[in-house]
Amino acid sequence: MSQAKAKLSSFFSQVWPYLHPHRGRFLLATVAVIVTSAIVLLLGQGLRHFVDKGLHAAAGVSMLPASLGLMALVIALAGASFLRAYGVSWLGEAFVLGLRADVVKNLLRQSPPFFENLSVGQTLSRLSNDLTLLQTVVGTVIPIAVRNGIMVVGGFVFLFITSVQLALIIVLMVPLIFGVLAVFGPRIRDQSRTVQQCHADCTDFVEESLHGLKTLQAYTQEVALYDRYQGLIQTLFAQAVKRNARRSVMTSLIILIVLVSVVGVLWIGALQVQRGSLSTGDLSAFLFYALVLAGSLNAFSDIGGELQKAAAAAERLFYLRDAPPALVDRPSPTPLPHPAAPVVFSDVVLAYPKFPDRPILQGISLTLNAGEHVALVGLSGSGKTSLFDLLLRFYAPQSGLITLAGVPIEDLAVHDLRRAVAYVPQDSFLMSASLQDNMTLSESCSVETLKKTADHVQLTPFIVSHKEGLAMPVGPRGLHLSGGQKQKINLSRAILKDADIVLLDEPTSSLDGLSEAHFLSILSTDWKDKTVLIAAHRLATVQTMDRILVIDQGRIVDSGRHADLYERCPLYRDLVDTQMIQGV
Ligand SMILES: Nc1ncnc2c1ncn2[C@@H]1O[C@H](COP(=O)(O)OP(=O)(O)OP(=O)(O)O)[C@@H](O)[C@H]1O
Ligand SMILES: [Mg+2]
Repeated sequence: MSQAKAKLSSFFSQVWPYLHPHRGRFLLATVAVIVTSAIVLLLGQGLRHFVDKGLHAAAGVSMLPASLGLMALVIALAGASFLRAYGVSWLGEAFVLGLRADVVKNLLRQSPPFFENLSVGQTLSRLSNDLTLLQTVVGTVIPIAVRNGIMVVGGFVFLFITSVQLALIIVLMVPLIFGVLAVFGPRIRDQSRTVQQCHADCTDFVEESLHGLKTLQAYTQEVALYDRYQGLIQTLFAQAVKRNARRSVMTSLIILIVLVSVVGVLWIGALQVQRGSLSTGDLSAFLFYALVLAGSLNAFSDIGGELQKAAAAAERLFYLRDAPPALVDRPSPTPLPHPAAPVVFSDVVLAYPKFPDRPILQGISLTLNAGEHVALVGLSGSGKTSLFDLLLRFYAPQSGLITLAGVPIEDLAVHDLRRAVAYVPQDSFLMSASLQDNMTLSESCSVETLKKTADHVQLTPFIVSHKEGLAMPVGPRGLHLSGGQKQKINLSRAILKDADIVLLDEPTSSLDGLSEAHFLSILSTDWKDKTVLIAAHRLATVQTMDRILVIDQGRIVDSGRHADLYERCPLYRDLVDTQMIQGV
């Protein structure tokens, strides 16, 4: 089996499970497709009857029964067309609904390394473009293919029934049409692929530009961007014109072949009518079938390309749907003891998947005792965030062991592990939802608790200044909020989660000094018994910690309290001195 055929058959076997639950509708739609095709073919017989009996037979022959019959056929055709159009488009929608849900369900289970090979942008564009393509194929192209298949077979049968001699002329036309399709089809498909790629480039460019518009405008890049966009759309235009030119040549060649055959049929048919071996009605019906046949054959040129495109789109989407998640729980994971501490790293090494030979963390050994508050201090890029990534199992270490309350984290259910950790990421994250939903991430929580938490992070004045209060929408990615307000909402989440372990990655980098001090007071109150690890560049925030770890180029180079470290650790002293807080 050729590769294309194998792809198509795997495509159909993958599509069927989505249609199977709706097999009743599928059957109805299939019957409607068959009935409409059959009625169109029967219309040719009606035409023959009308021409022979209505136009040429002696006056006085009643046309009423034939007219009523034809009317009934036309009404049946309209009814079946409705069932066909509604049924197949319904199935197309249902298919896309099921596949979309399955793809997103699997994407939500993926770990960050998955998106290092396929960017979020590419994933989204696959989801939207490929699904649209598949929907068209399932809801339109396949039914059209079935209908045209019936038309071609039925058309041939009626052609031969009507006149064998004339049918042979048409038979000559078929290999010519297929020849044209074979020559032009693959070239048009190749060119269509190029056009699609150009299209994706244009979309990516606009998406990226609009995303960073503030920065780009601040660097007065509007004209330069527009010029680059012009370049991209001109290329798109040129490639699309090339594809259309090929398609136009193919269509006109097919029209030429069809019309030459029709002229041939008319010529020989007229001679036969003159000789009396063919009726005018037969000739009319023959022409009708010849045109139906030519139309159906022509439609196959598009259908083949669409099906192959759909097979490729399906392959990409099924990859997104079936990619196994990096983290799968063991068959019987170890229950996590409470409290989930101490946290122990033993000789841990991490290299990111993109650069497997470049270790980012090396020989990390540390213990966070239950209830201990520890700070992580180091230069940018020294590996602080990476340490959090390991503990949350976003990435896996190359070697070494991480345990929580004595249990290796791989032996815990991922859900249990993450339930035990409250995490504030370095980059604040907000969804397009209400302020309250962003604070709770949809976990249930009383209004009193919410208000108390908002007080903790000094969000109350902002909340009461809006008439919607906690229900205020924050806009896409928190567009309506300031950087500090976004961070405060991220902090509220960690407070509300009430987990045993608290991981704070630069949690106060966007806060004013007063808000920061207010927030940090929670360490000595609500979070007194929690195990806290906090990465901070602003060293004033870490002075009172039980312990400070100094990390440099992926290694923990020292650990101790502020005063001792200031005395003995040159890196720590430099960091402190540049912030001029040695006297604090
Ligand atoms: N996904 C990734 N793939 C490859 N390299 C990465 C990845 N994430 C981080 N790195 C690299 O790992 C190193 C440590 O990064 P990390 O984010 O842990 O630093 P950090 O100490 O948190 O820095 P900062 O203080 O700037 O937040 C950096 O050199 C960075 O380039
Ligand atoms: Mg970081």
